[in-house]
Amino acid sequence: MNLIKYVLSTALVGGLLWDVSALAAPDRGQSLFKLCAACHGAQGEGRQNLLAPAIAGLPQWYLENQLNKFRDGSRGSHPSDYAGLKMRPIARMLRYEGDVSSIAKYVAELKPVKPPMTFTTGNAANGGTTYATCAACHGADGKGQQAMNAPPLAGQSDWYLLAQINNFKHGKRGADATKDATGATMAPMAATLADDQAALDVLAHIYSLQ
Ligand code: HEC
Ligand code: HEC
Repeated sequence: MNLIKYVLSTALVGGLLWDVSALAAPDRGQSLFKLCAACHGAQGEGRQNLLAPAIAGLPQWYLENQLNKFRDGSRGSHPSDYAGLKMRPIARMLRYEGDVSSIAKYVAELKPVKPPMTFTTGNAANGGTTYATCAACHGADGKGQQAMNAPPLAGQSDWYLLAQINNFKHGKRGADATKDATGATMAPMAATLADDQAALDVLAHIYSLQ
């Protein structure tokens, strides 16, 4: 009888210990995401007042590329890149082996949230013509192409995309091909958009792709 009690109690304690250790060691990506949610939102949907874009559902390869760029300063280190400078120290907090891939995998699996359109003056028809150039890398559907290192644009907030087009134009992103080879393929493309109106037109087309 005592033996049975003993076996039962150790099994119970063993079971409890197992549960507790499972609780104490949650998925690394999930626990790191609490840090991201402070700026990027609880669902990774982005928060414009903090200049933080939507990240939910971006492909893992692109998330890893960008986190590594923020970490090594090939993105987010230009003195007037205010938004990038906010992201850079966070990326540098991912300091343990595997942190970048764990958080990228977690964020890639989050369900994307459709962003509101904030600009209303873009002409989607004109933008569709311009977008033919962009489609070569970002895909006709705006879903991005890993083979070209080009991220999805459809589903991203228009205010953030405009900010990045201007960053590429003004040498705040992709200016140095030795440090940021993939950004340097994008910079001359941003330069083909003559002015803000041309950018707003192409963004109106991109919004219609969602
Ligand atoms: C202090 C606020 C803040 C926190 C915390 C933060 N970010 Fe950011 N993040 C930003 C801002 C601002 C930008 C926009 C940078 C820019 O405009 O270039 C950004 C940009 C990004 C981008 C680039 C997206 C793209 O489309 O290129 C990625 C990826 C990203 N963050 C991932 C993360 C992850 C993962 C975490 C958590 C480990 C995190 N961020 C935590 C503020 C933050
Ligand atoms: C030659 C290929 C190529 C073409 C053509 C191209 N892009 Fe890109 N684009 C890229 C790459 C590669 C990146 C990612 C750069 C990086 O790794 O930081 C990018 C990034 C971007 C980003 C930043 C997205 C983010 O989440 O931060 C925007 C916005 C963008 N492209 C808009 C455009 C528009 C608009 C056009 C057409 C006028 C265009 N691109 C044409 C290759 C291209």
